[in-house]
Amino acid sequence: MRNETEDSPDFKGLTADYFDRRSETYDQDALFPKLAFVILKHANLQQGLSVLDIGTGTGRLALQAAKTIGNEGSVIAIDLSSEMLTQAHFKAGMDSLTNIQFIQGDIEATEFEDASFDRILCSSAFVLLADPLKALKTWNLWLRPQGIVSFDAPGEPFGINTIIAAIASNHGINLPYAQVANTIDKCRNLLESSGFDVLDISPELMQEHPMQLEDALAVWDKSIAHPAWFELTNVPAGALRRIRAEFEAEVTASATNGNIVSKIVMNVVTGQKRS
Ligand SMILES: C[S@@+](CC[C@H](N)C(=O)[O-])C[C@H]1O[C@@H](n2cnc3c(N)ncnc32)[C@H](O)[C@@H]1O
Repeated sequence: MRNETEDSPDFKGLTADYFDRRSETYDQDALFPKLAFVILKHANLQQGLSVLDIGTGTGRLALQAAKTIGNEGSVIAIDLSSEMLTQAHFKAGMDSLTNIQFIQGDIEATEFEDASFDRILCSSAFVLLADPLKALKTWNLWLRPQGIVSFDAPGEPFGINTIIAAIASNHGINLPYAQVANTIDKCRNLLESSGFDVLDISPELMQEHPMQLEDALAVWDKSIAHPAWFELTNVPAGALRRIRAEFEAEVTASATNGNIVSKIVMNVVTGQKRS
């Protein structure tokens, strides 16, 4: 669970603003386009099902799900960011899809009737939640018997960001984004303690390539701007400078001939509502 004080910046507001700003180019520069399709595969969608897509963004999963379940089924797609939803709406219109309802809002402040859905999907948004375990328990109630949840979370390693998270942790700063579901055990515990049987937990290799040292060092600025690393925005400037200096030293020391390998694994986690 994220630690927020009364003085902390508004995490949900920052998240919505960040994705509003990225919305027009999100589909071109999203890091892991393949991830949504891995989640869909595990969700085992069929005609006529009722689906909730959480953090739908530009609708990557929601649109595909709507096509698979057909007009007998329905998709509710929710997101904090109005601009991401604008893109999703547009694409649904282009595809003449009439079985999707878009909702702008915070999933952690939204209510649905118990047993409303057959599937709950959440691609690249689970670790942006303030309280992921509480959310999973709630999603369990929203699912019908035998209902399936499928989501992803950064695994190990998570590229250059693994170095940032480890140094922050040495400084006593917990970055939930990197640590909520980074191991198979944590994924299993999350499912089992929220009323799910484990169907599948797959570490999926998303990226493995050499990066120039300069690009690896630039990951710091990109990460700091992302709501995933929100906790770092509360760190006093002097401490943040020290963490950054350690990051730069470690990345530089890890480079060989000016290159460093970035390897990114995402854990794709699928559970079935325990009967
Ligand atoms: C990285 S994008 C993923 C979008 C899409 N699922 C995909 O796979 O392309 C994360 C999305 O989650 C949304 N999001 C984050 N926290 C949320 C919350 N509490 N409630 C609803 N949406 C949220 C963000 O606004 C953003 O559009």
